Amino acid sequence: MRAVDIIDKKKKRQELTKEEIDFLLEGYLAGIIPDYQMSAFLMAVYFNNMTKEELTYFTLKMRNSGDIITFDKLDYYLVDKHSTGGVGDKVTVVLGPILAALGMATAKLSGKGLGHTGGTIDKFESIENFKFSLAKEELVEVAGKTGVGLMGYSDNIVPLDKKIYALRDVTATVDSIPLIASSIMSKKLAIQSDLIILDVKVGDGAFMKTIEDARELSRRMVEIGNSVGRKTIAVLTNMDEPLGYNIGNANEIIEGIEALKGHWSADLKEVVYEIVYIALKHKGEVETFEEASEKIDEVIKNGKALEILKDFIDLSGGDGQVVNNYKLLPEPKSIIEVYSTKDGFVEKIKAEEIGKAAMVIGAGRATKEDEIDHAVGILLKKKVGDLVKKGDLIAEIHYNDDKNIEQSRAMIIDAYVVGSKEQKGIKNILEIIE
Ligand code: URA
Repeated sequence: MRAVDIIDKKKKRQELTKEEIDFLLEGYLAGIIPDYQMSAFLMAVYFNNMTKEELTYFTLKMRNSGDIITFDKLDYYLVDKHSTGGVGDKVTVVLGPILAALGMATAKLSGKGLGHTGGTIDKFESIENFKFSLAKEELVEVAGKTGVGLMGYSDNIVPLDKKIYALRDVTATVDSIPLIASSIMSKKLAIQSDLIILDVKVGDGAFMKTIEDARELSRRMVEIGNSVGRKTIAVLTNMDEPLGYNIGNANEIIEGIEALKGHWSADLKEVVYEIVYIALKHKGEVETFEEASEKIDEVIKNGKALEILKDFIDLSGGDGQVVNNYKLLPEPKSIIEVYSTKDGFVEKIKAEEIGKAAMVIGAGRATKEDEIDHAVGILLKKKVGDLVKKGDLIAEIHYNDDKNIEQSRAMIIDAYVVGSKEQKGIKNILEIIE
């Protein structure tokens, strides 16, 4: 077998066999097949796509390149919720404790933020001494006691994806739907779960800018999951404005804690309730959204979900008292206010622009090596559908270093699209694909 023949076959839109995919990926991981041949192959995939069978083999081969985490001691219904990356996305902070309070568990790998999107690890690391589980044993211990298990990605999880992603990054093949689908699903399939729920963000601040692309990505990921016997459901959610009111790290933890006390932003609530409903339905506990809502309301009202978050923080090295004392979180030195330059209704808040406005003040990373300032962030004062007048407060920037403050302010003003179109907020759940 020769790599050149496999590339040629893909170029001619002929279907590859499992053996050919194995040969290519094994050779690439071992360093026998060079970058230039893998680059040519990736570009052929970019233009000619992959069939269902090819994509499944490709994904499984990637998954099998590293450790596979299984749990014999976790006797829970395991839900792995994954977000394709949003702005202000604190769903995991709130969802894990709610699922646990309802008798399920999360066991998932979480990532760090990059560019305009945040990462769950960074948000939790706002809490002093908080350490994510580094090994499976730690995750099993914390998840066994609390029902919330979050672990950071290690170099041993799907090493082939790291190698291929780095190559895609410099060969203009990142935005290939089959390659994105296999990259995400190889990591999802590397950890045991009963149900994978993919929160596929759509819109300005998302990886997928259009509903058509989001649908196609979802369809391919669901196809991979289901073809290897892992129930997978995609929820397409709107990213035409940031989720909730806070964008940053410590401030997003506070917003998450407040949600568990029943003080929700409407959009965050809609997304979290829908995902919990899907989990409960597939576990066989409810039929309708209303039944699920009642159950969620109950664990919020009786404080069970909040108590679980507190225990999870304690067991992860932090001080769980933070749920009642926000002074335990890092605080920014200063706040500046941002005012509307127009009259009208907020039609859209460009989430990517807001994510970048938070990044330039230190809440996010422009490169993987950048350090984050957990204390800083943006607080939105107006959401889509709100009426604003010129001079009204639309946002606050909470900062420590004033170096990029004017740039951040200009970006926020630009992000607010204010017009004459009256609308009732945004529809957050766009579609479900299973
Ligand atoms: N996220 C991933 O994990 N992989 C991709 O290819 C794109 C987004």
